[in-house]
Amino acid sequence: MYKLIDGKAIAAEMREEIKNAVAEFKTNRGKDIGLAVVLVGENPASQVYVRNKIKACEQVGIKSYSYYLPADVRQEQLESLIRGLASDGTVHGILVQLPLPAHIDASRVLRLIPVSKDVDGFSAENIGKLCLNQPCLVACTPNGVMKMLEKENICVRGKRAVVVGRSDIVGKPMAMLLINADATVTVCHSKTRDLKAQCLGADIIVAAVGKPKFITADMVGDGAIVIDVGINRDENGKLCGDVDFENVKDKCSYISPVPGGVGPMTITMLLFNTVTAAKRSSD
Ligand code: GUN
Repeated sequence: MYKLIDGKAIAAEMREEIKNAVAEFKTNRGKDIGLAVVLVGENPASQVYVRNKIKACEQVGIKSYSYYLPADVRQEQLESLIRGLASDGTVHGILVQLPLPAHIDASRVLRLIPVSKDVDGFSAENIGKLCLNQPCLVACTPNGVMKMLEKENICVRGKRAVVVGRSDIVGKPMAMLLINADATVTVCHSKTRDLKAQCLGADIIVAAVGKPKFITADMVGDGAIVIDVGINRDENGKLCGDVDFENVKDKCSYISPVPGGVGPMTITMLLFNTVTAAKRSSD
C-alpha cells in the first residue's frame, strides 16, 4: 500500500510558520518583508503563476510589488526597472517570471538581480554555493521536494536517486540537493540509454521531464518513492504530472500526486526564500 505525499497539507503547515516569521520580522525590524514580481507579456501560464505567487504573499503578510510590462518592452527599460529594485531597501526579493520574450537577453536581466535578492536561486553564485553545500538561496521547486521528503521522514542517505530531467531550474539543483543529502544520484535526460533500467534501479525517482505520464509502471521498482514535478495537460485537457499516477501508484511506498503534490510546495519555498533573504539583509 502506498502513502500519498500531501504537498498541499505540508505547504499549509509551512505557510503558518512563515506567517509567524514575517510577523516577527516586522516586530523586530519595524518594516515589512517585500517581494518584487516582474511579469513581461501575456503568457497565460505565467499569468497564473504570478497571480498565485502574489496571492500567497498576501496570505503570509509579505508585501508584494508587481510590475506588468508589455511583451515589446525594450531591454533597457526592463534592466532599468531591475536596477531600481536592486537598490530598493523595501524589496528583499526579486522574481522575474520566466520565460521572457525572445528579443530579451534573459541572462543579462537576471544578472542584475543581487545574489542576496535572488529568491529563485537561479544565479550562478547561488547555484555554485549549492554545489559547494554552502548556505544559499535554493531554487524553489527542488527545495520543495526536499522538504516533502523531510516532512515524511524519508531518509535520503545512501539511497539510489534517479532525477529524470536536467533543467537548470529543477533537474540540476535537485541532483545537487540529493547529493548534499548523501544520496547516490543519477541524472537522466532525453539522450539517456535505457532509461527504464536506470529508473528500475532507483529507490527514489524524481520526474521533471515535462511530458504527460512519461514515467510508466514498467519503469518503477517495487517500493520506490516517486516524486512528480510535472505539470501537464493530458489528452482530455486534465491536469496531470510526468508520472502515470493511476498505474504507478500501487508499486510505490510513497508517491506525490498532481495536482496537490510539488506544486503548492514551490510557491511556499518562494515565500520561505523571501523571508530568508529579508532576515539576512541589513536593510
Ligand atoms: N517559470 C517557470 N517556473 C519558474 C520559476 O520557478 N521562477 C520563475 N521566475 N519563472 C518560472
